[in-house]
Amino acid sequence: CGIVGYIGHREAYPIVINGLKRLEYRGYDSAGVAIYNGTELKICKTKGKVSDLEELINEKFDTSGSVAIGHTRWATHGVPNDVNSHPHYSNSGDLVIIHNGIIENYESIKKELITRGYTFESDTDTEVLVNLIEEVLKQEKNLKLGKAVQIALNQVVGAYAIAVFDKKKPNEIIAAKLGSPLAIGVGENEFFIASDASPFLEFTKNAIYLEDEELAIIRLGKEIKVRKIKDDSLVDPYIQELQLNIEQIEKGGYEHFMLKEIYEQPNAILDTFRGRLLANEGIIKMAGIEDNMKKFLNADRIIIVACGTSWHAGLVSEYIFEDLARIPVEVEYASEFRYRNPVITEKDIVIAISQSGETADTLAAIKLAKSKGAFVFGVCNVVGSSIARESDAGAYTHAGPEIGVASTKAFTTQITVLTLMALRLARAKGTMSSSDFRRHLIELELIPEKVKKALESDAYVETVADIYKDAKNCLYLGRGYNFPVALEGALKLKEISYIHAEGYPAAEMKHGPIALIDEQMPVIVIATKKGHYEKVVSNIQEIKSRKGKIIGIVTEGDESVRDLADHVIEVPDCSESLSPLLTTIPLQLLSYHIAVKLGKNVDQPRNLAKSVTVE
Ligand code: G6P
Repeated sequence: CGIVGYIGHREAYPIVINGLKRLEYRGYDSAGVAIYNGTELKICKTKGKVSDLEELINEKFDTSGSVAIGHTRWATHGVPNDVNSHPHYSNSGDLVIIHNGIIENYESIKKELITRGYTFESDTDTEVLVNLIEEVLKQEKNLKLGKAVQIALNQVVGAYAIAVFDKKKPNEIIAAKLGSPLAIGVGENEFFIASDASPFLEFTKNAIYLEDEELAIIRLGKEIKVRKIKDDSLVDPYIQELQLNIEQIEKGGYEHFMLKEIYEQPNAILDTFRGRLLANEGIIKMAGIEDNMKKFLNADRIIIVACGTSWHAGLVSEYIFEDLARIPVEVEYASEFRYRNPVITEKDIVIAISQSGETADTLAAIKLAKSKGAFVFGVCNVVGSSIARESDAGAYTHAGPEIGVASTKAFTTQITVLTLMALRLARAKGTMSSSDFRRHLIELELIPEKVKKALESDAYVETVADIYKDAKNCLYLGRGYNFPVALEGALKLKEISYIHAEGYPAAEMKHGPIALIDEQMPVIVIATKKGHYEKVVSNIQEIKSRKGKIIGIVTEGDESVRDLADHVIEVPDCSESLSPLLTTIPLQLLSYHIAVKLGKNVDQPRNLAKSVTVE
């Protein structure tokens, strides 16, 4: 979910509604705002997107007021409907709250509140929390709102980023965080609260990122006070200057964020190289590795934890680390790893891969690994995110903000960082000769140009999309380094076009999926020249003899697959270990065009969220 709040001297509603649009990547099942105009507290909420909320408000609301809070929801407790939408208010109607996260023990608290006469309109854990705060206020006269929120939070188990407003104390908002991100923008006698800094970038570059278990008392005309929720101690808040600018979070002429982000990949990869890849000098510099080289050289193995697309980047890097640096690698779904009682020792290195740096399962997995003495290295895109902060060391991907829910440039830049790491370690371990190392660096440096070239297939991919847009199922096949790319291609299609798709290792096809192949079944096969080419060509023959439709992703100039396939999409030639950075491109474009042609919401596919801060 995404939360936004404003208190100051401007009209609050436009700030909050625009902020919600920027945070919609965090969830968009329902949306709502509460606005206070000095006398009245108005709440408007609805199932659907922020644009639906805006329409509703335009029809019947006076939006004036200089305090407002808003929320865009990704449903956890309770179906997405109007009643379950945030903001939620207390029984007296005085308190309103917005909440991102989960209160795990809400049922027992709810029962207790019901015995005290409270009633509940929604099925949400959030409505329980706001009434718990009300009950705390009721029990002790003259209790300040901040204190009441603190007492209530000490009774809940779970995760939260919240903002609470009391219309009887209209000069303040209380914000608090545990597990979900929360940024406070500090302006001139005005304050912004949001899940990330994007809603307030054009108003202030000064931001405080609350740490877990911190509560901020935000009062007009006063300095922000931050306290530890557990022991009430005062914290000196660190105000940092944001480097992000507004252009980075806008569409810049593209129809969708996803397309913009696909096209940003050549530059994003260049940014990931910056300061690290010095191909002419034959050097890779990565502070996070240099500073901990001993740990890396002594490690028994690397365990990679991640979710979704980041997990696929982890799978690609398994091939790279093992092949080039000869380090054993295990790649784990963070959600499985954390609950499996895994064997972890001090000689393990755990690499957490996460675009957002906020994925709850990945964060919990590294906390577990740390508690068992492992060294944790974070590969995150969002600077200062929870996973980045929790890691012992790390390397940012520097892809810039990724807004489209289907991850694209984050994936390729994750692979880029992991490739740089594997090469650096290969050199340090001596598993690669210096001439081989140099050759790899020079080739790596050419990748952004080759990605640009791969993007030139866009128009042709669109025609292919037109032919297959009505398919009910799709199979993606690849081998070696390109097996995880097949998984990622299938995931992209599922996520945004809702067509069922499966990724498979090409050779494994004959142990199951081959039964599905008939003339209705499009099979996308990654068959680049370097890497098991002949074997993949035989797999293609197997598909052809069962009348499947074949779309080959091939190396420029390929003839053999062209003869067999219904369509071929070319990518530039490169060594096998770098090929995922190129073969991914047409698969991203294919899913994008199919989804657009089907009229789906590409940037905000149903049921998904960009940043999953609940387990
Ligand atoms: C969600 C997103 C995916 C993403 C995954 C992991 O499911 O929709 O695109 O790959 O989370 O997110 P992370 O931020 O940890 O990379």
